[in-house]
Parts: sequence; C-alpha cells; structure tokens
Amino acid sequence: MDDRPIGIFDSGLGGLTAVRALASAAPWESFVYLGDTAHAPYGDRTAEQLRALSRQNVGFLRGRGVKALLVACNTSTANAMDVMLAENPDLPLLGVIEPAAGAAVSATETGRIGLLATAATVSSGAYERAIRCLAPEAAVTAVACPKLVPLVEAGRTDPSDPALAGAAREYAAPLLAAGADTVILGCTHYPIIRAAIRRALGPDVTLIDSGAASVGALLRALERRGALGDKATPGSRRFYCSAGREMFVKVGSAFLGWDMAGLTEQVEL
Ligand code: DGL
Repeated sequence: MDDRPIGIFDSGLGGLTAVRALASAAPWESFVYLGDTAHAPYGDRTAEQLRALSRQNVGFLRGRGVKALLVACNTSTANAMDVMLAENPDLPLLGVIEPAAGAAVSATETGRIGLLATAATVSSGAYERAIRCLAPEAAVTAVACPKLVPLVEAGRTDPSDPALAGAAREYAAPLLAAGADTVILGCTHYPIIRAAIRRALGPDVTLIDSGAASVGALLRALERRGALGDKATPGSRRFYCSAGREMFVKVGSAFLGWDMAGLTEQVEL
C-alpha cells in the first residue's frame, strides 16, 4: 500500500478529464494536479519547447512527493514521453496515447478511426504508430484542431457558442467524409466540450476519451506494484495552476462538479 499522491499534469484544464475518471474509479487515491496555464496552449509549440515544459512539470510534481505520474496531456505524451521516461526511471510514468489507441482499436467495427488532436500531436504521428502496432489494417484520419483549446481555457464550453459550434463542425467534416465509426478525443481538453463535438459528429460515432482511458492503465500499474492507496480512506485533492487561477477554478469546478476554490493555488513556473 502506498498513500502518497499521484501526480497528474496538463497544459491547463484538460487533464481534469483524467481527474474526474480517477476520482470516480478510485476515490481513495490522493492526487496533485498541475495545469501549466501560463504556457498553454501546448498544441502549437515545438517538440523542443514541449520537452522543456514537460521536464518542468515532472520536476514540480516530483517535488510534491508523488508515487506515480500520469501525463494527462496528449501533446506532451506525443512529444516528450521518451525524455520523461529516460530521466525518471524510478517513477511509474504513464501517458495517454497508448490507452486511448487501445480503446479505439477495441471499439471500431469498420477499422476507420478518426483522431481530433492538437497540431503538435497530429504532426508527431504518435497515434498512427500506436494504432498500427495493434491493428495494422486500421485507417486513421487525423485532424488538427487549433481553435478548440483556447476556447476551453476561456470558458467557452457551451455547445451553442457560435465559435465553438463552427470549429467543431469544421473539424468533424473530414472525419465524417472518411466514414470514421470511432473518434479519439486525442486532446484531454476535448471531453470538456464533448457536447459540441457530439453535435458535430452525430449520434452514431463512438467517442474515446483519452484521459479517462488512461486511468484504468494507471490503476492497473499501481496494483501490480502493490502501490494502491488505502481504500478505507478518501484521498486528498490538490490543484496547482501557473496563471489565471480564477478562470481555472471556475471552468474546472463546473466540469468536475466540485468547488475547487479552496484546493487550488497559483504558482510560478
Ligand atoms: N490537453 C492537452 C492535450 O491533451 C494540451 C492541449 C494544448 O495545450 O494545446 O494535448
């Protein structure tokens, strides 16, 4: 048993989609969450910048005494996982891409998989590689969605928001044209605007939540190591952001359905 917290990071609010899944599947686990809002969005950054920011985030969370780390950011997973793993051999460290790719391969019936993700995730080719390992025949149509994360971070999550609805329709069109039956929300921010994406894609497409898919893999990894927390005690929750605390708390609390105000501190990174 290990009651130390799990560290979770993202560029901002997106990783809260993993937090929500973790709190529901394993309410006894403590966690420390970091949203690097001062440097969001990550999706338009270079691989070199993403490696530096990922290293910064791992260092911050290691300083809070975490027992494991979930990289709840597809963009960091795609561009910096190798560096994070190489530099932290002693720490269980999981990304979101392999679990989401696995969930999509299990869900698809036609082998036509769509991917909505940031520009840096799409250009890395990480999802195509992960899917090809599991299903060499699958056809992947990937669409970079640079307008979505800034809208989420600005709290524009209502599916009738014209800018959001328009962007969702624009990004859904190539996936509908390709006949995808399964679409990976390959950025952890996107489940926060799931209603808008669902509206644009229609009711028949299966949506894969990359943050939620990774939580099962994280809990299995902890169980294998005998490192789950004490199931008899509720876990503690702590949130950090690096800018814009007020908006972070407002949008995050609405998404999680808890008041994050007393649990959230803004830090300088
Ligand atoms: N939520 C992150 C991801 O999964 C980062 C999005 C961004 O900051 O552009 O890729």
